[in-house]
Amino acid sequence: MYNGKKVALITGITGQDGSYLAELLREKDYFVRGIVRRASNPNTKRIDHLDIYDEKFGKTKDSPFYLLYADLSDGTSIRNALEKIEPDEIYNLGAQSHVGISFENPESTLNFNALGPLRILEAIRDMKLPTKFYQASSSEMFGISAPPQNENTPMLPQSPYGVSKLAAYHLTRLYRNAYGIFAANGILFNHESPRRGLNFVTRKITTGIADIVVGNKENISLGNLEAKRDWGFSKEYVEAMWRILQHEKPDDFVIATRETHDIKEFLDESFNLLGLNWQDYVKVSDNYKRPAEVPALLGDPSKAEKILGWQPKTKFKDLVSLMLAADLKLKMQEKGIVPIDSKEEDAYYLALGKELMSKK
Ligand code: NAP
Ligand code: GDD
Repeated sequence: MYNGKKVALITGITGQDGSYLAELLREKDYFVRGIVRRASNPNTKRIDHLDIYDEKFGKTKDSPFYLLYADLSDGTSIRNALEKIEPDEIYNLGAQSHVGISFENPESTLNFNALGPLRILEAIRDMKLPTKFYQASSSEMFGISAPPQNENTPMLPQSPYGVSKLAAYHLTRLYRNAYGIFAANGILFNHESPRRGLNFVTRKITTGIADIVVGNKENISLGNLEAKRDWGFSKEYVEAMWRILQHEKPDDFVIATRETHDIKEFLDESFNLLGLNWQDYVKVSDNYKRPAEVPALLGDPSKAEKILGWQPKTKFKDLVSLMLAADLKLKMQEKGIVPIDSKEEDAYYLALGKELMSKK
């Protein structure tokens, strides 16, 4: 605590979840600090609307929000950050989060995703910090276990990413049990938003459709269309992360919607919104297929509902619609089809997209 304010440290603050979590914690009047790693160009696009560079305070204890350079693969930078920030809560969201790419970069994936949280946990233990620790665990850890999956389902990962997350999950449990650290896992099923990275399947589809509508391209190439996922809304899932750290004791929770759909259903739903058949626009390419696949994810969030009082509000259909509308708006703004400051309801961009396609 500093001057009566809780202090939170977010790793992965430039990512999808990190940006929504930073917004949520600032709304709750936390003092927020975020770790960013060096990039050849600043990549703070998702958080630039928050006052990240407050000249008045700089990177001091009095600053409501600031970023500092550190890297999950650099233990010294992590320790320096913890020493400076003295956080009440750490949310470890930083990771190489792309499952497909983890097959191409397995070593760095394990380094960031498994050794990264170990470095934080070791620093907490060694420096005797009273901080709470949240680990961004993943439904990818369940791998080939049959759905529905809950906290007691066997974990049989199918990718270097899944293995890295399983190691971090167990390290979090171990440091809780062995050293009494408040360390908790949120086992989150897939969650998406207009801020989702462009190379995850949902956003690839919605941004791909928007590109087709405005005439940037003619089709979308995808890999395995049979896999099933339990897709929720990122903005609601970061609320669950916060609740996990406010619970009286550290524990592990599945966060999911209880609905599963395959990629074809996502294609059906999104293309249908514009009166189109996805079969006319989607190509299947082996380039996007993985050496091993997680066939079906369907989460059972009963424990989180009962203990944390958390429930998902946005389900599949609404999620598809809000993501497609956001990408249509973005591409239409880029192309000058709507004004750059256009602020219409989602239905407007969907209707305009449908009209533009009907004229082709
Ligand atoms: P994301 O958009 O890919 O964001 C990942 C964040 O981690 C980015 O800010 C990235 O920074 C940062 N990062 C990567 N390597 C780092 C390193 N070596 N040091 C410091 N920071 C590093 O992922 P997300 O969707 O927000 O997911 C957040 C977390 O939840 C991840 O750990 C992910 O594995 C986990 N998770 C996600 C889902 C999901 O469906 N979204 C489900 C379960 C679990 P740059 O901007 O510099 O790349
Ligand atoms: N990315 C991608 N690109 N996936 C494709 C494509 C494509 O062109 N075509 C088909 N897919 C399939 C993948 O093979 C997978 O079965 C499914 O679509 C979902 O892929 P992603 O959107 O990349 O997500 P993911 O399920 O592999 O991983 C996400 O969810 C995990 C939680 O279960 C990521 O956010 C992970 O970080 C997260 O832990």
